[in-house]
Amino acid sequence: MTHRTRLIAALDTKDRQQALSWADDVGRIVDALKLGMEFTYSCGFEAVQEVSSGHSLFLDLKLHDIPNTVASGLSALASLRPALTTIHASGGSEMIARGRETLEKAILPGETRPKLLAVTVLTSMNAEGLAETGVDAPPREQVLRLGKLAMQAGADGLVCSAHEIAPLRDALGDDPILVVPGIRPAGASANDQKRIMTPAQAARAGADWIVVGRPIIRAENPARAAQAIMDELASA
Ligand code: C5P
Repeated sequence: MTHRTRLIAALDTKDRQQALSWADDVGRIVDALKLGMEFTYSCGFEAVQEVSSGHSLFLDLKLHDIPNTVASGLSALASLRPALTTIHASGGSEMIARGRETLEKAILPGETRPKLLAVTVLTSMNAEGLAETGVDAPPREQVLRLGKLAMQAGADGLVCSAHEIAPLRDALGDDPILVVPGIRPAGASANDQKRIMTPAQAARAGADWIVVGRPIIRAENPARAAQAIMDELASA
């Protein structure tokens, strides 16, 4: 990998003013801002537009429905001009391919197409949880299966845990954009994240982007916390 691993700050809140203030504070330091279901469903598209204005947006809404509905949804959210957006790989190849096609059609000449990322297996799922849904493969195997499927169907990349970077790179090479949450700077609280890596470890493992929420937004000084992670990535 030739470029520096980039940093996304996750602005997880229902509060528009709070998100705006974080965006002002850390948006000039980090590479992109993440808004997900919590913010988008609470505050709406207009607020997403306002908070992300002037910043690169990771719009993480994890779409999963029949191909036609996902395509319509992506076409609507493409108006927010996200740099990155997400769907569930388990929706299957047709859903993913239609999603990619829709994003290609949604952009104007000269604009950059939003990158389509597929979520493989939620990190909250273990082997037992997968078995409950009729999947008898271990999570690692299912991640690889869905990762390959998503990339073949036209996804640009995958959301994965830091511990899945190496097996995904082995199987799929440099092609997928790998976006990695569950990152904790040395000394930061793990909160509810279990299998964590530091920013430098994730960068060395081959993450293209890392997603960091609470260690930035809950820090006493969010801008300073964000800058420290940027410095760690620059020297990784
Ligand atoms: O606060 P924290 O750094 O744990 O936030 C990580 C962000 O990444 C949250 O927005 C969380 O929803 C998201 N995420 C995650 N694990 C995944 C996928 C997304 O923590 N597997």
